[in-house]
Order: sequence, then C-alpha cells, then structure tokens
Amino acid sequence: MKSRLAAAAPWWRPTAGNLLAIRGGRPLVGTYPISGAKNAALPLMVSALLTPHLVTLRNVPANLDVAMLAALLQRLGCEMHWSTRGGDLSLTLSADRVHPGRIDADLVTRMRASVLLLGVLLARCGEARLPMPGGDAIGLRAIDFHISGLQTMGAVVTLEGGLISATAPAGLRGADIMLPQPSVGATENLLLAAVLADGTTTIRNAAREPEIADLAACLIAMGARVSGLGTHMLTVSGGAALSGAVHDVMPDRIEFGTLASAAAMTDGELMLPHGRLDLLGSAADSFAAAGVDIVKAEGGILARRGGSGLRGIDVTTQPFPGFATDLQAPTMALLTVAAGASAISETIFEQRFRHVDELRKMGADIAVHGRTARVRGVERLRGAAVTCTDVRAAAALVLGGLAASGDTLLDGLDHLDRGYDRMAEKLAACGAALARTGRE
Ligand code: UD1
Repeated sequence: MKSRLAAAAPWWRPTAGNLLAIRGGRPLVGTYPISGAKNAALPLMVSALLTPHLVTLRNVPANLDVAMLAALLQRLGCEMHWSTRGGDLSLTLSADRVHPGRIDADLVTRMRASVLLLGVLLARCGEARLPMPGGDAIGLRAIDFHISGLQTMGAVVTLEGGLISATAPAGLRGADIMLPQPSVGATENLLLAAVLADGTTTIRNAAREPEIADLAACLIAMGARVSGLGTHMLTVSGGAALSGAVHDVMPDRIEFGTLASAAAMTDGELMLPHGRLDLLGSAADSFAAAGVDIVKAEGGILARRGGSGLRGIDVTTQPFPGFATDLQAPTMALLTVAAGASAISETIFEQRFRHVDELRKMGADIAVHGRTARVRGVERLRGAAVTCTDVRAAAALVLGGLAASGDTLLDGLDHLDRGYDRMAEKLAACGAALARTGRE
C-alpha cells in the first residue's frame, strides 16, 4: 500500500514506528491549529469525479484516510496536484476521464467513505462495481439506504460474493427518496448522484451534519442546483452542466471537541485556531456542564478546565445537532477523571464501546449495560499498554495517556493516523511528551 499512497499523496509520511509512547501528566499548553474536517474532505474529494473541470480543495487534512482516498481516485483516472502554502494543504483534482473499472479493492475495503464512489461513478459513467466498503468496526454499517435510494433513481444493483455491481442503463433520474434514518453517508451518496441525474431529486429525512452542507456548498460552486442546506430535506435539480470550483474544507468539529477535552483533562490551556463552537451542536452544552471551558479569545478559541473542576454528566449520542457519536469515545475519556458519575448512551452505532476495555486498563471505572456505559470518575488514570480499535477510540486513548500518571504505549496507530492530521506532532508542540516508536 505504501507505494500507492506515496504516488497519490506525496506528503504522506508515516513517521517511523507503529507505537506511540506517551509520558502522561503534563498539562497541554499552547496553540493547536484545528485542521480541515476529515468527514468533509472525503466526500468533497469524491465530488471532483462529477466534473471534467478542475476542483481545488484548500485546508485538506493530512491524514491517512485522505491519502488512501487519493490513491483510489488516482487509479480511477483522476489527476491530482498537491500544494502547501503557509502550512495549508491544497489539492487540485482533474477528472477529465474516469475509468470506473479500475477499482482498488484493497483500498475500498479499508475505508467506509469509498461507498460514495457508487453514486458518483453511476452518475458519471453509468456503472460502478466495488467490494463492500470497510472502515471502522463499530457496528453493522449497512449500506441498504444507499442502495435503495440509487435504485429509486433507476440504478440496477446486484450484490454477489461481497461485490456491489450497479448500472444505470438509461441514466439516473430524479426521484423522491425518504431515508429510513438520517444517514450521513446515504445523504451524501444520493446528493452526489442527484447532481448529474435527469430531473429533480428530493432527499427526505436527510442528515443535517455540517459536513453535508459543506459538500452541497462546493457542489453549488460547481454549478449544481441544491436547496435545503442544513435541513432535513434536500432538493436537487439535476443535470446542470458542472464547472470546476475552489472550496475551503470546513474545520474539523471532532478534532476541536477532542482537543478541548484534552486541554481540560490535563488541566492545561489550548488555543484552538479555526475551532468553531457553533459546529459542536449540543456537545457545546455538554462540555460546559462537564466543566470544560470553551471561550472565544483573540486568535481563536481557548479551551481549559473550568474553575470548579470536571463533573460527571449524562450524554446520549444523536444525529446533528445532537451529541456527535464521533465525540463519544474522547468524551468518555474525559469523564473517567470527572467528579461523580456519568452515563453515556450510544444510539448510532452498535459496537462503539470498544475503547472501554482499554480505558479500564488505565484504571478507569466503567461498566457497560447494553448501549449505556456508566462511568465513575477516578482521581487519576495510570499509564498502560493499550490498543486502538477505531479512529475515535484512538483519540480517546491518546487523551487518557496524556492525563494519566506514568507511561502509556498505544498500538494500532493506523486508526489514529486515519482520522487526525499529525496529532502527535501538534500535541508535542503544546508540551506533550510523546514519541513514535516500535516496528515500522
Ligand atoms: C459518518 C461518518 C462517521 C460518523 C457517522 C455518524 C464519514 C466518513 N463518517 O459515517 O464518522 O460516526 O457518519 O455521524 O463521514 N445505516 C444503515 N443503512 C445504511 C446507512 C446507515 O443501517 O444504508 C445505519 C448505520 O449502520 C449506523 C447509522 O445508520 O448505525 C448511521 O450511519 P451513517 O450516518 O450512515 O454513518 P456513516 O456515513 O457510515
């Protein structure tokens, strides 16, 4: 995989070592710039396949998922040009010709976002064949809403031997689609397909995550006609001739919430440039209730522990603007050292408590009852050898390690690299004692 990544994303340099050693107990103090959002960048990159014209994305996060998607797109015929200005990574994509048959099955099975290729390849080329997409092992992660939506738009889809084959012999046509649940990926897939479909598509019960409005804004800049941004109903008048576009990827709200928690957990103070409180939805209130101070300051947003310390809270994950499931694991790490009890209920994914056992190894007091984890705050976590099981679990364990007494050794670092732009480097610049180590 290394050579494919190097060819498609030359900036991708996994630093030597697949373990991260953290010496905990130091307050994080300094400036931690919030990167572009991974979950916005991925669909935005895919959207470039809709047009033969140049699409430039600025503020692209330098993470492994972006590098893997770049390699996938390159193989499909998309040309890519990367540039860095003032620390910002920009990507210009040119999909003059697209070869839908050139799917890199290995990469597709490594990332969930590759399912978005289904809608785009169908819309642009009339055919798509891909293995079932992979990604974090956090639940069933079915793609039935994606498939039935595309079928309503005229696609013929067969599933056989783990392969999805779809064709649109007469092209895709606009349709009225009702999603059974506001799925982020299904909303994006159908939105992307609808832009080139013939006629009007209405997506009802659409997800309202800000990354979807960011995608829609870029599509509109390309000439697409989309309305209802930020609401449960998106309407797309398909078939407009698309141009290219230049678009700034929105800031990463998950990185922001995670680092605000890290500042409070370590009793430090972090300036978080580009962090946006309004993108946290109800998590902003939850953090305030838990004693995480997030205040506007000159140069960005400042995060630190409030004067009366950290307190246990109850959290239930919900679609936006509810508490983001992607913040559940890092928030659990935070609450392991908050005074009193917390109840954390996960309603979006079935298996998103895999970090619990790892946090327990660090001395956390957590009991799981079905979909609810009950946390009793302890005075202090202690360093341990732990394994990252998914992207957000990885962030939670980094937080645990930073706040713990003693040394923590993290394994399974690919998960951290997939979701975060140079996290170890940025933390080190804020005083964390940590280093990559171990085998390549
Ligand atoms: C996206 C995010 C992920 C985030 C999640 C929820 C990306 C790349 N990933 O994932 O970080 O945690 O949104 O905010 O943006 N479902 C079905 N059938 C479908 C589609 C979804 O049953 O066809 C179910 C899923 O199994 C899950 C729930 O719906 O239980 C929500 O999934 P969805 O919103 O689609 O999440 P993703 O797009 O996979």
